[in-house]
Amino acid sequence: MPNCLWFLRMNTMNTLKCYTHLLVSIPPVVGIGDPMLQHGEILRSVLMEGNLQWLCYLSSTSVYGDCGGACVDEDYPTNPVNELAKLRLAAEQGWLNLAHDIGIAAHIFRLGGIYGPGRSAVDTIIKQGPLSESQKLRVTRQFTSRVHVADIYQALKASIHMPSSRRVYNVVDDDPAPRKEVFAYALDLVEKKWPALIKDFTSPPWEADSFIQKATSRGEKQVSNARMKKELAVKLLHPSYKSGLQSIIEQM
Ligand SMILES: NC(=O)c1ccc[n+]([C@@H]2O[C@H](COP(=O)([O-])OP(=O)(O)OC[C@H]3O[C@@H](n4cnc5c(N)ncnc54)[C@H](OP(=O)(O)O)[C@@H]3O)[C@@H](O)[C@H]2O)c1
Repeated sequence: MPNCLWFLRMNTMNTLKCYTHLLVSIPPVVGIGDPMLQHGEILRSVLMEGNLQWLCYLSSTSVYGDCGGACVDEDYPTNPVNELAKLRLAAEQGWLNLAHDIGIAAHIFRLGGIYGPGRSAVDTIIKQGPLSESQKLRVTRQFTSRVHVADIYQALKASIHMPSSRRVYNVVDDDPAPRKEVFAYALDLVEKKWPALIKDFTSPPWEADSFIQKATSRGEKQVSNARMKKELAVKLLHPSYKSGLQSIIEQM
């Protein structure tokens, strides 16, 4: 069985030789780290013989940690606080090193909270389910960086078409609004579109007090997207959650 697994893994790795562009969207795993970099040596030797020209690793703004409300650009010191964020930073470095070894530049995109059709405040309200643990932790934040999935696509496309020697880009929108504000806006959109849909919102899940203590211990930051706009010339389709949520509800 181990031989069979090894063969499968090698087969998968070997297919990478054919590709010119590699986008890594796999998050790190606690206790393991980056699942692909686990096989770093095989990966390196395979990619050395291949045609890779562009590599991008999707990371997270969590690598900055608690910044006391500061404006955070890509030169701001990283200070990840939890294990996942530490593994994330290690994964960034791992991909940068690997790309350097094979003679290409890797790009690290530090994403804010991703939202889009099927995964947004509008969807959460319509489902009327409880918030996930990570959503609860963000409830009382003054600033929450987010980005619409269409704008991640824009940034990726720009990075492919305008090769740059820069390594790290924050990919967030212009409006790091508090989650409560975003939900209030989403609720308004839903009520206007389907007046009878929401029956009981006297105590919406994102206003529950039970997790506030936990939430306030998390770090605040305002993440800057100036480098992405200046160097990749990205014009955000959704600079604020408002247009992003409107486009989502219009498509429903
Ligand atoms: N969602 C956010 O708000 C947010 C914010 C900042 C950064 N990020 C990061 O941006 C990246 C993309 O985000 P996302 O929300 O699209 O993530 P996601 O929904 O968790 O998707 C991750 C992808 O990685 C694959 N994957 C996970 N473990 C794997 C493994 N061991 N081997 C192979 N494939 C594996 C998953 O495959 P399956 O579908 O087969 O499971 C899935 O396609 C992730 O690294 C995420 O952590 C996300």
